[in-house]
Amino acid sequence: MTSYIDHLECTVCGKSYPHNELIGVSPCCEKVLFVRYDLAKLGREVDRDSLVCRPDTMWRYAELLPVDDPADIVSLGEGGTPLIKTVNLAKKLGMTNLYVKDEGLNPTGTFKARGISAAVSKALELGVKGFTMPSAGNAAGAAAAYGARAGLETRVFMPQDAPAANKKETLVAGAELNLVVGLINDAGREAVAVAKEFGLFDLSTLKEPYRAEGKKSMGLEMVQQLGWKMPDAVIYPTGGGTGIIGMYKGFQELLELGWIEGKQPKFISVQADGCQPIVKAFNDGANSSLMWENATTKADGLRVPHPFADYLILDAIRATGGTALAVSDQEMIDAMYEMATAEGIFPAPEGAATLVGLKHLLHQKFLDRDESVVLFNTGSGYKYLDLIKGS
Ligand SMILES: Cc1ncc(COP(=O)(O)O)c(C=O)c1O
Repeated sequence: MTSYIDHLECTVCGKSYPHNELIGVSPCCEKVLFVRYDLAKLGREVDRDSLVCRPDTMWRYAELLPVDDPADIVSLGEGGTPLIKTVNLAKKLGMTNLYVKDEGLNPTGTFKARGISAAVSKALELGVKGFTMPSAGNAAGAAAAYGARAGLETRVFMPQDAPAANKKETLVAGAELNLVVGLINDAGREAVAVAKEFGLFDLSTLKEPYRAEGKKSMGLEMVQQLGWKMPDAVIYPTGGGTGIIGMYKGFQELLELGWIEGKQPKFISVQADGCQPIVKAFNDGANSSLMWENATTKADGLRVPHPFADYLILDAIRATGGTALAVSDQEMIDAMYEMATAEGIFPAPEGAATLVGLKHLLHQKFLDRDESVVLFNTGSGYKYLDLIKGS
């Protein structure tokens, strides 16, 4: 089980960089760098079906992840989350193949564990002494946990009104918590400055190549759980976009390997009414987004007013015939109850947003009731207890 990592590649001009040096954004265009693998060799040497017998974590896909030496892997058991076929929700909506990929069961309660595990492991392998992490909240909690496990200095930056659970999980794991006046983009500026001053690696969303690789594993796992078949649509709550970008990239790799066949699922991006830069760009036919002023939503993970990798999110949506739509905070909160009542899954508001999106798209006939659809519940509702009424 060793990585087939080959080089890093600029997503704008295609220029290659060595993979054994720590690079953040592409030096040529200052845009996102992707990890590229030697897929031809991997395809010759690795049998897809042999992966099934391995331990049920995202490191099952180690050949398609960036860490060279398995001894460098910093793991808390991330991945291996269930793909739950809904019974009551499907019935209510007249569907036959409606699934929830429940990422709330990851260490630290969100899908962030996957990206952070990959990035911290690779950064450790390349010799960092510590890192900075701007976050809407959940990524910071994961960074603190994995930073502690790795024994690396960890400094996180989050908006001062981020959820209490995120602040507390950061503190309990011994990371330095910096509360910032403003949003994640303001936190990002501070994180970059501190990283520069203290010689730390900045793990901002998609400003380093490895977090998206961890997120990619959600997609690899989902298709494996479906018997190496892709669903018709994936509905994903979109903030910085690592999930969509990572999964789209992962499916391209699986297709190139010949491990799956057919069309990629339609990628459907759900955002909040109060912060919808990707929806606006998609509807305007633009290739990049504009800063969403005065961004506000109770779904903190969706409060990303100007995603750095907007062009890649829009690419994935358009290339797969997907769409983007926004939903209200009240709809999300109602859907938290609905998912919990119908299926026993207590979602984060971000995850609940996907159910609202699904209903709108069925109503608009963008999706058919006989299509197979996977909703991504990216986090646990336990991190957002203040949104739930009662004592
Ligand atoms: C629970 C939750 N869902 C979704 C998102 C958005 O994730 P992505 O960067 O993949 O768009 C976040 C990001 O903070 C989050 O915490």
